[in-house]
Amino acid sequence: MNPNDFPKTVKLKDGTQLVIRPLLKEDEKKLCEYFLRLPAKEVSRLKDDISNPKVVEKMIYDLDYDVAFPLIAFDEDLIVGSATIKFNPIGWTKHQAEIRGTVHPDYREKGLSTCIIDMIVEISKSMGIVQLTAEVSPALDEAYFLCEKVGFKEAAVLKNFIKDQEGNYEDLVIMIKEL
Ligand SMILES: CC(C)(COP(=O)(O)OP(=O)(O)OC[C@H]1O[C@@H](n2cnc3c(N)ncnc32)[C@H](O)[C@@H]1OP(=O)(O)O)[C@@H](O)C(=O)NCCC(=O)NCCS
Repeated sequence: MNPNDFPKTVKLKDGTQLVIRPLLKEDEKKLCEYFLRLPAKEVSRLKDDISNPKVVEKMIYDLDYDVAFPLIAFDEDLIVGSATIKFNPIGWTKHQAEIRGTVHPDYREKGLSTCIIDMIVEISKSMGIVQLTAEVSPALDEAYFLCEKVGFKEAAVLKNFIKDQEGNYEDLVIMIKEL
């Protein structure tokens, strides 16, 4: 991947222009504020508790584009979406990358995630990645629909694998997109 290819300007379906660029250390406060603006019932079903500022602090502290490449979407000064590709450059998953992301509710269904996933596919291909994976809670319908739309296929369901913030067990769906 080449961080120098950014920032990129994208136009959503409603004409809104956003700027997409990799996360920088100075984005910590804005990223915390963004995650706190997401619906709590969704955050409780994400892999990391991104509502916890300590999680964001660690994300920023560990920032290393060779391990995780977080892309952030800005509407002027406001973060409105984020997506991360996680790599495992050594080991038996070195041909894979895991993708995660969120979009602020006011900016959904306007093509933002689709657009970021297109970028992620190009970045991944340029790195020799041949499979993208996504781990989705079945309660996150929009994530499942999005994954299907951009070519992910359901590969496995791990029964009662997730324990959410309220202590409830749920299945985890593993989705894979071949590049
Ligand atoms: C999943 C999420 C990131 C999608 O972001 P987005 O920017 O709205 O996605 P896009 O606009 O690019 O695409 C949405 C697509 O999902 C599909 N979709 C969304 N809601 C749908 C619904 N209720 N029924 C059928 N399809 C639906 C559509 O195909 C739509 O694309 P289209 O409008 O071109 O047909 C966003 O909804 C979100 O942040 N959800 C909560 C967090 C989450 O689930 N994250 C994923 C964790 S891996």
